[in-house]
Amino acid sequence: MSEEFRALLEELRPRCVEIVAQYEDSRSALLPLTHLFQERQGFVSRDAMRAVAEMLALSPAVVESTVSFYTLFFRRPVGKYVLQVCRGLACTINGAEEIMAHLRERLGIGHLETTADGLFSYEEVECLASCDRASCMQVNLEFVYDLTSQGIDDMLAAMRGGTYATAPMAQTHVPARTWTVEQDAQVSNGAKSAGAQGQSHPNNAGGLGDRSGLIMLDRIVANERFFRGRTLERLANAEPTLAKIVDEEAEAAH
Ligand code: FES
Repeated sequence: MSEEFRALLEELRPRCVEIVAQYEDSRSALLPLTHLFQERQGFVSRDAMRAVAEMLALSPAVVESTVSFYTLFFRRPVGKYVLQVCRGLACTINGAEEIMAHLRERLGIGHLETTADGLFSYEEVECLASCDRASCMQVNLEFVYDLTSQGIDDMLAAMRGGTYATAPMAQTHVPARTWTVEQDAQVSNGAKSAGAQGQSHPNNAGGLGDRSGLIMLDRIVANERFFRGRTLERLANAEPTLAKIVDEEAEAAH
């Protein structure tokens, strides 16, 4: 354990004790404790994982498997602004492909990478559960909705100028080009997750993320008649007038 971390641990210990005391089962404190260390270090260091494991009487492997599961935790240093863009189906329908291409171009980096100045990290992630406000992203875990290219440019300018509403992450260590860890490259033929069908290595840094949203969209379009039938059936039960309008518009379009 580094001297620097030892000092942080002693400072945070009273707060950690308070957090653990809130739960009937101490194991439930795993996520809040991990968040607390990430808040202060800007990532979840190996020292932090070991300290959390010790406090909760868990094995370090249990803590690491939880931390590695969530895209909200970073096991290596990241940029001051972590930009996580949703690549799910609803966002793909609402222009996520263009937004992701725009961000990659503006930042000059790809999926899972950090800019050389350490200001931005960029990642394409699965559905953020805000499909009604697609396309959307999270910035340092805060949601940003209804994305447009102009909105992205304004947001990056505000971050560069230090006026963005969401505070930058703590940055106690200089980030490398990527925050992926070596173990991730050893799982599932080089990819952390198997990803969508026909997509190899979706979690390798530097390129595009998994294109599952696009693949889903292609499937829906390929089965357009089936899905239109199902939609009309549902609308006929819930909103007969709306179903009639949708049907008439679809007929007129063909
Ligand atoms: S698909 Fe983007 S929030 Fe659900």
